[in-house]
Amino acid sequence: MLFYFTATGNSLYVAKQLENDPISIPQELRKANRHYISDSIGIVCPLFEFEIPNLVKDFIQGSSFETDYFYLLITYGCHHGGVAQRTQAWLESIGRKADYVNTIIMHDNALIVFDMDQQRSIEAEKQVDAHIAAIKADISVRKSYVQEAAAEEIDFYQHFTEWIRQTGPMYSFPLYQVMDSCIGCGTCVRVCPKGCIRMDSGKPVYDYQHCANCMACIQACPTKAIQFATVKEPNPQARYRNPHIKLDEIIRANEQA
Ligand SMILES: Cc1cc2nc3c(=O)[nH]c(=O)nc-3n(C[C@H](O)[C@H](O)[C@H](O)COP(=O)(O)O)c2cc1C
Ligand code: SF4
Ligand code: SF4
Repeated sequence: MLFYFTATGNSLYVAKQLENDPISIPQELRKANRHYISDSIGIVCPLFEFEIPNLVKDFIQGSSFETDYFYLLITYGCHHGGVAQRTQAWLESIGRKADYVNTIIMHDNALIVFDMDQQRSIEAEKQVDAHIAAIKADISVRKSYVQEAAAEEIDFYQHFTEWIRQTGPMYSFPLYQVMDSCIGCGTCVRVCPKGCIRMDSGKPVYDYQHCANCMACIQACPTKAIQFATVKEPNPQARYRNPHIKLDEIIRANEQA
């Protein structure tokens, strides 16, 4: 049994390499009672600012898992900052423990920092499929492992948290503005895992109260009509979805209607 959360398809791509029918966390979160029984239970999700997303933490905290082997795989784009050990520590703080926690470097979809076209150009160097194959082999033999972070990753994390402490959160709300090029297709509404967007007179309206800051909406807009409201991004004309994942799959995973 394998659960996933994805905004742009990377984590779903990984999940699909491991199991035929992975289960969407945003859809499971709509169920009141969540008790899962399986020989092996895994979770695949992206890294958001050096942590697993709150939505995934909520899922784990509100679910009970009866299993012999519990594992987490975290996809990220440039620096994981020691998230595997930090996630294990968080799990232990809530009375849980994973048997295996690992990370996989993939395309970095953080639009605010990276040009999506530039990221595409370095994707091959990241050897994603080779990493997935190695992890799949680990899981098949139920390996016990929590990735240890190199000193440079810990440094990176510490510098980042210090910088956030001094400057405040990286993102301020309203996060987005919708430009005149919006064609009213409603795709942004359908890919939102938190149901934060509704259509009003043919245009999306955001309610940021529960926004997961996942960027699924901005990335999926076919006319690039969603732009950051308060910050300048490196390339407002470049957007990303994992090339192996269809838009319909992101919609099925996240739609809250
Ligand atoms: C809000 C946000 C924060 C992110 N923070 C990090 C980060 O701290 N370190 C990193 O290497 N990648 C970071 N990323 C990149 C994603 O973790 C990475 O691209 C991931 O594979 C996306 O998975 P998905 O396609 O399943 O959503 C961030 C992306 C977003 C949208
Ligand atoms: S996805 Fe883009 S074009 Fe479609 S409704 Fe949303 S903002 Fe408008
Ligand atoms: S509004 Fe956009 S960024 Fe916020 S949770 Fe929904 S899809 Fe993600």
